[in-house]
Amino acid sequence: MIKKLSNGVEIPMIGYGTFKIPNDQADEAVKLAINVGYRHIDTAAIYRNEAGVGKGIKDSRVAREDIFLTTKCWNDDQGYKKALDAFEQSCRRLQTDYIDLYLIHWPKPQNSETWKAFEELYMKGRIRAIGVSNFHQHHLQELMKTAKIKPMVNQIEYTPRLTQTSLKEYLMKEGVAMESWSPLMKGKISDIPLLHALSAKYKKTIAQIVIRWNIDTDVIVIPKSVTESRIKENFDIFDFQLNQEDIEAINKLNLNHRTGPDPDSFDF
Ligand SMILES: NC(=O)c1ccc[n+]([C@@H]2O[C@H](COP(=O)([O-])OP(=O)(O)OC[C@H]3O[C@@H](n4cnc5c(N)ncnc54)[C@H](OP(=O)(O)O)[C@@H]3O)[C@@H](O)[C@H]2O)c1
Repeated sequence: MIKKLSNGVEIPMIGYGTFKIPNDQADEAVKLAINVGYRHIDTAAIYRNEAGVGKGIKDSRVAREDIFLTTKCWNDDQGYKKALDAFEQSCRRLQTDYIDLYLIHWPKPQNSETWKAFEELYMKGRIRAIGVSNFHQHHLQELMKTAKIKPMVNQIEYTPRLTQTSLKEYLMKEGVAMESWSPLMKGKISDIPLLHALSAKYKKTIAQIVIRWNIDTDVIVIPKSVTESRIKENFDIFDFQLNQEDIEAINKLNLNHRTGPDPDSFDF
């Protein structure tokens, strides 16, 4: 299942998240995910596992151009020159000369300068799509004052307890694809009773219901697991679809509850 970004680049709707996978385990984990069928891998410089992820992709023997690879520019690397250097270092660790999707990891005062570097790399063909992560609407509006190219993706926290309705509407209106991180609330998703009922109704696990809710609400989703059975389970979501009534019931579970920091108060 794929989605076309605003520049026509195709991104698989489900990807494999790698946050907290240690570098020396990332190659095996990524290889396993690719064997299961994932063709979209999400990492970041700050995860310190790009080398393992790159090795896993190489060792999988699936052609590089058949993998959609995302990495992110960390906060300390924001700024024009630093972002250019950070990009080259990520490529080197990942054993690739291009990135499919490069994201500003968190909003910072230097967003605009960083974005210039992103635009330059994009125009040179080193990045197939450029985007941001953890941007509220006001961060995007500020960036757009100086940007020549509109971000193609915003990767944000999105769960049944944090449905981000107004930001989601804004992104849809602007043609910015939305991608969700920590879709399984870092493993705590099973505390929600409605999801148990939907799990019984569709004969799918709670994780599968939530992953499907992402896809059925047009959100790209990147669940992480190092457990073989869960890596398979999270990808086994193509044989069902939630009906509109159930999608809306999940939408109503929103409590504006974050499992991660609010981008407005996050400062490393
Ligand atoms: N842009 C950002 O700022 C940002 C922030 C956070 C995350 N991310 C990205 O989003 C990805 C996903 O987020 P995340 O890793 O924080 O959390 P997540 O995918 O919501 O949850 C991962 C946790 O859930 C468990 N899990 C996975 N599948 C399961 C299943 N089917 N049933 C029960 N438990 C399951 C995993 O355990 P095991 O691994 O032990 O199986 C792990 O503890 C990250 O890996 C990263 O790529 C981006």
